[in-house]
Amino acid sequence: MTRTTFAPGDRVQLTDPKGRMHTVVLEPGKVFHTHRGALPHDDLIGLPDGSVVTSTGGTAYLALRPLLSDYVLSMPRGAQVIYPKDAAQIVAMGDVFPGAKVLEAGAGSGALTCSLLRAVGEHGDLHSYEIRPAFAEIARRNVEAFFGEAREPNTRVSGEAREPNGGLGGQIARAWTLHVGDVAECTETGFDRIILDLLTPWELLDLVDRALVPGGVLLGYVATTPQLSELVEALRARGGYTEPRAWESLVRDWHADGLAVRPDHRMIAHTAFLISARRLAPGVVAPPRRRKPSKGAEAYALKRASARTRAPVQTDSAEVVE
Ligand SMILES: C[S@@+](CC[C@H](N)C(=O)[O-])C[C@H]1O[C@@H](n2cnc3c(N)ncnc32)[C@H](O)[C@@H]1O
Repeated sequence: MTRTTFAPGDRVQLTDPKGRMHTVVLEPGKVFHTHRGALPHDDLIGLPDGSVVTSTGGTAYLALRPLLSDYVLSMPRGAQVIYPKDAAQIVAMGDVFPGAKVLEAGAGSGALTCSLLRAVGEHGDLHSYEIRPAFAEIARRNVEAFFGEAREPNTRVSGEAREPNGGLGGQIARAWTLHVGDVAECTETGFDRIILDLLTPWELLDLVDRALVPGGVLLGYVATTPQLSELVEALRARGGYTEPRAWESLVRDWHADGLAVRPDHRMIAHTAFLISARRLAPGVVAPPRRRKPSKGAEAYALKRASARTRAPVQTDSAEVVE
């Protein structure tokens, strides 16, 4: 059973009448101060989730435990996080299932990590690589703050209700391994799913070849069209994968007030592109896909072929070679 009343240590999101949000972590005796007066944490402790509390200045605040989608947008960041709309696509289209063995790089701020841990559940096996130690530390703290400190399994006090954020608190130690280092050096194999959120995922296809199980899903998350193209073409050139699929998701909120029903004026129009492909059995080459001939594709194939015969050009790793 999920815990429903607020307890010390709980993260609570307070929303004022103008929709502004503040997050507090409940501590007995502590007071949350705003320019609209003070709000003692003790007033919240013991109340059911979804209560209203009033500050000494008379302002009413709606108090709710943050959803994962609220949390990732408010948590401390090192690297840019994967937005909830894209994390949802990754979990659904990447078919991340309970018990799956998943490789993720880079862990960045740990936003996608939280969605993946929820999806694989307590019997899953998530390996997250992060090359920058400072970011790995942020990811570790963010994940632990959401699910609860990594405790040994089975330390739950008898009768204690399940953790509010999905019940993984005590299980993280078992389901999650955070590696500080270059994912290219990962020696583990047998991954059901591999998710790459870094600048040059096409440079990691040797790793994907050896580490992804036949039928497994590779998902790349890239911000620009040259990166999208580079990954798609590298997968095609290598063979051993299904025809890559590339897409993006656009989410538009709607304003609904009486008869004034229209799309919101503002939206997050672009975050990144997703590219997915499935690993084939060893030695299998997918039958060639017939595509309508296009001048652009032919010209690009010629350009890539001539680039392959030229000596490699020294560039910054973040740049795309033209
Ligand atoms: C955009 S961030 C990832 C954000 C993360 N998915 C999240 O939702 O919070 C990209 C991360 O990849 C890391 N990175 C880049 N190359 C890497 C590599 N070869 N191995 C491991 N991590 C790498 C970077 O340090 C950076 O933190």
